[in-house]
Amino acid sequence: MTKISKDQIPDNVVIFDTTLRDGEQSPGASMTLEQKIEVAALLDDMGVDIIEAGFPIASDGDFEAVSEIAKNSKDSIICGLSRASFNDIDRAGAAIKHAKRGRIHTFIATSPLHMEYKLNMTPDTVLEKIAASVARAKTHTDDVEWSAEDATRTEHDFLCRAVEVAIKAGATTINLPDTVGYSMPDEYRAMFEMVINRVPNADKVVFSTHCHNDLGFAVANSIAGIQGGARQIECTINGLGERAGNAALEEIVMGMRTRGDILPYDTRIESKMLVRASNLVSAVAAFPVQYNKAIVGKNAFAHESGIHQDGMLKNAETYEIMTPESVGVNATSLTMGKHSGRHAFKDKLSDLGYELGDNAFLDAFTRFKQLADKKKNIYDEDIIALIESEISEANESIRLVSLEVAVSTDRASEAILVLEIDGKQENHTATGDGGVDATYNAIKALTTDSQNLLRYQVQAVTEGTDAQAHVSVRLEEDGKQVIGQGVDTDTIVASAKAYISALNKLVLKRKRNAPDAI
Ligand code: KIV
Ligand code: ZN
Repeated sequence: MTKISKDQIPDNVVIFDTTLRDGEQSPGASMTLEQKIEVAALLDDMGVDIIEAGFPIASDGDFEAVSEIAKNSKDSIICGLSRASFNDIDRAGAAIKHAKRGRIHTFIATSPLHMEYKLNMTPDTVLEKIAASVARAKTHTDDVEWSAEDATRTEHDFLCRAVEVAIKAGATTINLPDTVGYSMPDEYRAMFEMVINRVPNADKVVFSTHCHNDLGFAVANSIAGIQGGARQIECTINGLGERAGNAALEEIVMGMRTRGDILPYDTRIESKMLVRASNLVSAVAAFPVQYNKAIVGKNAFAHESGIHQDGMLKNAETYEIMTPESVGVNATSLTMGKHSGRHAFKDKLSDLGYELGDNAFLDAFTRFKQLADKKKNIYDEDIIALIESEISEANESIRLVSLEVAVSTDRASEAILVLEIDGKQENHTATGDGGVDATYNAIKALTTDSQNLLRYQVQAVTEGTDAQAHVSVRLEEDGKQVIGQGVDTDTIVASAKAYISALNKLVLKRKRNAPDAI
């Protein structure tokens, strides 16, 4: 067989984002329909080539998300995942039907371990399933991706046979995942070289990487896969994903951009939107980004030591291999104060990528002024937090009217709370073990206490004791989970807002009787 030379393979790398599918499978990272639509719109604007929007057979919620994202898609291809069964594939086909361009991604495991213990199928049956599933997907769309789950622990001869069958059946993209994050870069690269050189018609399809981060090699492996001939990378914002996560989109994009000398590959990603995407995904999935996370972590461009600061002042390149601006960190992010007017606020929102309708703008401006009265310096991050919480507070049936909390070192804390519930004001005073506990007891007394608090998390949005606190809570009721977020300069008020926002989602869920976490 003739070998495919590297210069026969184009240099464009296709970015396939699976934040809304593999990322959302991450324990505790589920998102509402509205949040998924918002994330997808941002990914589309950012230049993501393919958005894997969900696993339509998994639940009605997943189906609806893929379908709505497909209807709203602009430039991105919208993809739905399916196993190898016809039911799965037809459901995925129906979900992507309204996309400008839709893809079905169908997969089956090919490693001996998975075939024997998980699928309970012989290798020959798996080959038959591959042919049948890809052919079935082709009846819905020309754009069909096939994945060999656990490819990195699959015997090479069998992997080649499986890929050959998938190509013959019409797959246009072949994904070879490192499902369990087991591979090492040299090995992963060699696997692509081997398959591309051995399988007939390999030059007619795009090969794809999909790496998990169990040993911390997901990004390195993805890049190695590209060096081995793959031209699509499956990745997620902030590296969100099953277990230790998936390869982080922002690291891949900036790695290729910064080291273009040895990685001469292009993507369509607008890198200035990376931090915004990271903030949005972190907020909606209630998944904090570690401070020292590459590219988008709070400290990624912070220089603390005197020697570094001195070098930076003389020439930023001494300690910065890429500019903060190139990933969307605004060097002068100190922006607004209480004297800033409507016009400046509107310009700032537009710089940050928000276009609000008239009423939403007026509400946001009022909240901005209230914040500016309490907090001297308003940073971009404060405005982003304010707008994101504004968006999530729409459609609430329970609203916080007022909260007074007395905290003491000698006795139980006391919270005096007034809520508006379905338009009617109600109040309650409760005590608790600290201000947050007292407040939550008061909220539960006025609403319901059938829910369990699974997670309570506080983060400071910016620096200083007047920084806004961003609180996220995860509640569970009858096996359904919801996430609520709240932002305020006071941690207890932010905590109350977060709990109330989660309760509002539970109310919605009860009304809709939705099958899955929203
Ligand atoms: O990790 C994996 O193998 C997957 C497949 C469904 C592509 O997520
Ligand atoms: Zn995966």
